[in-house]
Amino acid sequence: MTPGAYSLVDLDQRPDLAAEVLALFTASPPGANHLVCGLPAYMGLPASPESLSQAAGVLIALSGNRAAGALALCPYSEEQITLWGPAVAKGAGSETGARLIDAAREALHLSPYGSMRALADTRNRRSRTLLLAHGFTTWKDTYCYERELGGAAQPGTSRVRRAAVRDHAVLATIFIQGFPDSDHCIPSLQRRESEGYRHYLLEDDGVVAAAAAIQDAGGRGWLKLVAMRPEMRGKHLSKRLLEGVLAEEGKRHTRALALEVLADNAPAIHLYESVGFKRRWTATIFTGPV
Ligand SMILES: CC(C)(COP(=O)(O)OP(=O)(O)OC[C@H]1O[C@@H](n2cnc3c(N)ncnc32)[C@H](O)[C@@H]1OP(=O)(O)O)[C@@H](O)C(=O)NCCC(=O)NCCS
Repeated sequence: MTPGAYSLVDLDQRPDLAAEVLALFTASPPGANHLVCGLPAYMGLPASPESLSQAAGVLIALSGNRAAGALALCPYSEEQITLWGPAVAKGAGSETGARLIDAAREALHLSPYGSMRALADTRNRRSRTLLLAHGFTTWKDTYCYERELGGAAQPGTSRVRRAAVRDHAVLATIFIQGFPDSDHCIPSLQRRESEGYRHYLLEDDGVVAAAAAIQDAGGRGWLKLVAMRPEMRGKHLSKRLLEGVLAEEGKRHTRALALEVLADNAPAIHLYESVGFKRRWTATIFTGPV
């Protein structure tokens, strides 16, 4: 490949390159070159056509007729895009990744998205250096945890059940109190359920005390939200919620549950480890302007 001689296209313009782009993302195994998928539910899983199709756009650096690099733009919220990549082919010029980040910024400039975030595995020095040199600053570290369910019966608790539509209003209040910046409850929890989410609740003395939201992804469940009513926090109830969720998901034959938690959220980390979640990797969250 001739370094620098690239043209940029979107995967929508060149769907014939889908397999090549997937191979670029797949060729970054965990470790020093690991690329963190920009779609939370798919983090830690190998790249799949389904995960790629959920990106808002996939930029490709073309060298001749070959994909030399790719960068997927994954919606994180109504205001933020998460980058997945850049994934660069062996032998491609070192500036390929930088060109793709600049192109992402240009593409997003007139969009409703106000900023970009990117997650780099803490072992991936090349990715960290590239982001820092291209307008990104570090925000916080985050952990990916996973718990195999393996089909075995989990202890469970009768006080945890799937939410019914009549529970949605109280669940939305609990989620918004726990995650004020999340758009999960917009426009409604019913809409989220039609998108593949499952909602669970814990009752204590007839009061809905806590709630969890699980997204179905690639045969596993992504534990997107766990929240306790503020006035009921600190009473050791959250473990009961998670044990119940593990039991219900086990009955559905969910292979594993995975989640992302900020490294400074000590009570949540303690909670996840107490019910058997294992840390898979650590990434730094970078943010930058579009
Ligand atoms: C995370 C959350 C659900 C935990 O519920 P909670 O009622 O506050 O927590 P609990 O009382 O059940 O305590 C959880 C465990 O963490 C421990 N803990 C509390 N503070 C801690 C700290 N600073 N360091 C280490 N462990 C801590 C508790 O001792 C308890 O363990 P134990 O039951 O083995 O003694 C709740 O704080 C919440 O809703 N937070 C806002 C939303 C959120 O951050 N969700 C998780 C995002 S990934």
